[in-house]
Amino acid sequence: MAAGKGTRLKSKHPKVLHQVGGKPLLAHVIAAGTQVVAPADVYVIIGHEAELVRQAVAQSGVQFVLQEPQRGTGHALMCAASNLAGYDHVIVLSGDAPLISAETIRRLRDFHLQKKAAMTILSAKLDDPTGYGRLIRKAEGAEVQAVVEEKSCTPTQRKLREINSGFYAFAVKPLLENLQNLKTENPHAEYYLTDMAAVLRKAKQRVVATATDNPSEILGSNTRAELVDLDSKMRREKCARLMAEGVTIFFPETCVIDSDVEVGADTTIEPFVQLVGKTRIGTDCRVRSYSVIQNSEIEDEVLIRTGCILDGARVAQGAVLGPYSHLRPGSDIGEGAHVGNFVETKKVRIGKGSKANHLTYLGDAEIGAGVNIGAGTITCNYDGVHKHMTTIEDGVFVGSDSTLVAPVKLGKGAYVGAASCITEDVPPESLALGRSKQIVKEGWVKQKRARGTTEG
Ligand code: UD1
Ligand code: CA
Repeated sequence: MAAGKGTRLKSKHPKVLHQVGGKPLLAHVIAAGTQVVAPADVYVIIGHEAELVRQAVAQSGVQFVLQEPQRGTGHALMCAASNLAGYDHVIVLSGDAPLISAETIRRLRDFHLQKKAAMTILSAKLDDPTGYGRLIRKAEGAEVQAVVEEKSCTPTQRKLREINSGFYAFAVKPLLENLQNLKTENPHAEYYLTDMAAVLRKAKQRVVATATDNPSEILGSNTRAELVDLDSKMRREKCARLMAEGVTIFFPETCVIDSDVEVGADTTIEPFVQLVGKTRIGTDCRVRSYSVIQNSEIEDEVLIRTGCILDGARVAQGAVLGPYSHLRPGSDIGEGAHVGNFVETKKVRIGKGSKANHLTYLGDAEIGAGVNIGAGTITCNYDGVHKHMTTIEDGVFVGSDSTLVAPVKLGKGAYVGAASCITEDVPPESLALGRSKQIVKEGWVKQKRARGTTEG
């Protein structure tokens, strides 16, 4: 179920697309669900901002059911009735409870089948049950009489600590036969799926519940505070998993590591580092503080010094970055290459062992191996309309403060004198100077003083 608006988040974006652990809530739930049943058998009920939600998770291969308008969780299942007709059982997941694991879904399914129940509720015993529907049973372990939403609870019911997680398994036949018996006599005037417990009981059907061993798995995210709690819980667990796999993370509570990030053993992550998106880092790397690395591939033994920003970059083995390097999409840094402070790169391949150590912009360029790019070098890649390529072949030496006006090519082993403006190709093994010749006026200062004037 992912059709709700999420009023309590006070957001213009649909609730299930809010992120925890760097991924939409719904994407986490789908990831767990598709480990239990094939994606083609997963139906995502969408409604509020349906197209946005569909696009965000379409890649997972699941199917979609439109709920329009959204009249409650019970109504969501009414909308899916024709899709369910061909199945014996259905597992219902809440799109806003992202910590659910495939293991727990499997246990819910197995318990449901074993009890031959019409409805099986995944419950949890919470120290603070505020906000959740409460399970009403005649005695502990007995069948479930009803689920009462918090707003409708009597003071005694409110004290019950066994809550409805919003995850269920149903036998399809009794579900479809009884769905139309749901009523909307409640504070929200909605069809509550939770009322199916009482409806099925009345129809003499079996309604049971099984409590999860890990109550934190079912936590929902109705408010910003709950979202942020889930996010930090997820990231804490991510750090713990990486550490168990041999990664050192200092002050892990200060690091932001998304769920899909991979880090190899013996890599060290210093405080206040962010590793987000589909980032992969090899073994024996060190990522120093305040670096933010997104959707990037870092091979082994790479040193990323303080304050680097990487987005869509690839960095080969043994390279050294930073401090304060900015690698934009399409940056491909070769083995053992150095990219130093205040160097910005974009769509550039830098070959093995090449160095650009200070204050440089390299964009739309192909740079060979063993190249030295002097401080302050700029590839002038943009003429105001089009982008152009700079090609720098192996072993080239570019003197400091040079501007390379693309399209331009520096041939193998060429030298460019410092402060040159290079507008034409430089043949291999040649020296290019693109600056005005230096003028020296000997004794000029002394003569000026003697004249006592400011004239040159
Ligand atoms: C629901 C349960 C509550 C349970 C809690 C667990 C009901 C009436 N109550 O409350 O007993 O303790 O989950 O987290 O079900 N949705 C739709 N269509 C709709 C309405 C909602 O698809 O018309 C989806 C939402 O997008 C969401 C899920 O159903 O993913 C749950 O809805 P939500 O409004 O969050 O229910 P809760 O108030 O949390
Ligand atoms: Ca909820």
